[in-house]
Amino acid sequence: MATVLITGANRGIGLEMARQYAEAGDKVIACVRDPGAATELNKIAKSGDVSLEQMELGDFDSITAMRKRIGDVPIDIVINNAGWVGGGKQGIDDVDIKEWHRTLDINTIGPLILAREFKSNLAASGNGKLMNVSSQLAASTWPMGGMIIYSTTKAGLSKITQILAIDWKDEPITVAVMHPGWVKTDMGGPNAQLTPEESAEGIRNVIAGMSKADSGKFYKWNGEIHPW
Ligand SMILES: NC(=O)c1ccc[n+]([C@@H]2O[C@H](COP(=O)([O-])OP(=O)(O)OC[C@H]3O[C@@H](n4cnc5c(N)ncnc54)[C@H](OP(=O)(O)O)[C@@H]3O)[C@@H](O)[C@H]2O)c1
Repeated sequence: MATVLITGANRGIGLEMARQYAEAGDKVIACVRDPGAATELNKIAKSGDVSLEQMELGDFDSITAMRKRIGDVPIDIVINNAGWVGGGKQGIDDVDIKEWHRTLDINTIGPLILAREFKSNLAASGNGKLMNVSSQLAASTWPMGGMIIYSTTKAGLSKITQILAIDWKDEPITVAVMHPGWVKTDMGGPNAQLTPEESAEGIRNVIAGMSKADSGKFYKWNGEIHPW
């Protein structure tokens, strides 16, 4: 059975991935901002091997503190799932610069620090897998205007994936990036195409099928390759 660390595990796609991994018998390290308020996740933790860890992606010290609490245990899969929409449909005329900096911390720099902190845990697994959840909005091939903050901060996360795949080429760690689909969550809204169950199942299947040769790939939830 695998040990899986998931950020943003208290709702949306992250919660559903935590549920599915726990149901499959895997050990889940579920990272949330407020463990006491994570009602659904606490229910899952009653019947599965799920531990809740407090972590705020915009507070880098909280990531380091969490790594210290968890220690040197091998971790097979790290999913940088948490994300923030960052001002929604802001364009050049109304972009909130302060919000852009905050969102850069949450969507880009925080996930990079998490990857750095848990690199040795992934390497200790012997076949570690790091999946960064980005978006099609981050792709140069996706022709949509607006949402400057969200799209650029996720594009940064996608590029980090490619850089880590190169820089960690001699490590036993596969690094990939994921577009999870348009999903019915608080972020995706009720008109989205996929349920969290469909997206989470797809992401789990992609991760299960990945090997070192796949490092640096940009996937869709259904296993197709997303054009960069
Ligand atoms: N839904 C879609 O259609 C869609 C499409 C493309 C990409 N994505 C990406 O898929 C991932 C999951 O999205 P979702 O739809 O499940 O979103 P969601 O329902 O809005 O959930 C977002 C999760 O991220 C956590 N989070 C937000 N800011 C955080 C911070 N500063 N520190 C730590 N955790 C934080 C939230 O925790 P709190 O509950 O504490 O706020 C929550 O658990 C995100 O990275 C998103 O950008 C989603």
